[in-house]
Amino acid sequence: MPVSDPANEPVNPGRRRFLTATTSVVGAVGVGFAAVPFIKSWNPSDRAKQAGAPITVDITPLEDGQRLVREWRGQPIWIVRRTEAVLELLPTLDDHLRDPLSKNPDQQPEYVLTDFPELRSIKRDVSVLVGLCTHLGCSPEMKAEIRPEPFDPNWKGGYFCPCHKSKFDMAGRVFDGVPAPTNLLVPPHFYADDNTIVIGLDPSSNQGAV
Ligand code: FES
Repeated sequence: MPVSDPANEPVNPGRRRFLTATTSVVGAVGVGFAAVPFIKSWNPSDRAKQAGAPITVDITPLEDGQRLVREWRGQPIWIVRRTEAVLELLPTLDDHLRDPLSKNPDQQPEYVLTDFPELRSIKRDVSVLVGLCTHLGCSPEMKAEIRPEPFDPNWKGGYFCPCHKSKFDMAGRVFDGVPAPTNLLVPPHFYADDNTIVIGLDPSSNQGAV
């Protein structure tokens, strides 16, 4: 799925209207109760709520080394089935990573560290990540194969952001010495069944969510 560059997007008239309305209301605050009638219109519309709604993904067709890309809340969501070779290598990379044990709690929900802390996933082989670089938000390239790459002769598979050369492993953990400050984000998610992932809700929501 191509990831759009917000800087190149055409002007969104709906957003412009929202900004204009917001400016008007902020201006009205100074005149006291005149602002009250506007506040009702700040409630999110059904469409806005839908834009933030969870998504359900069938991972049945996902084979070793492959990635599915979906969109949730305007962000690319990567669902990757990692190969056994990659899975065995991941724990050996810790010395080269900035936060190998994912101690920054803002970058993933706690439950993805329970069973496989170095893999940052609920299932051992399936990784779910927000596909945006934590430096300035480019979408990194997936370079899943273990082979020398022009940007790293010892490459063990992972994600490379060509914007400013940040590197992440196949668990989305950031390497040392690159501009990206943190590991890639893991979105809230749970498995509704063996091959169905719900993105956007925690496992505690697994009651009639699908
Ligand atoms: S946006 Fe990825 S390295 Fe700068």
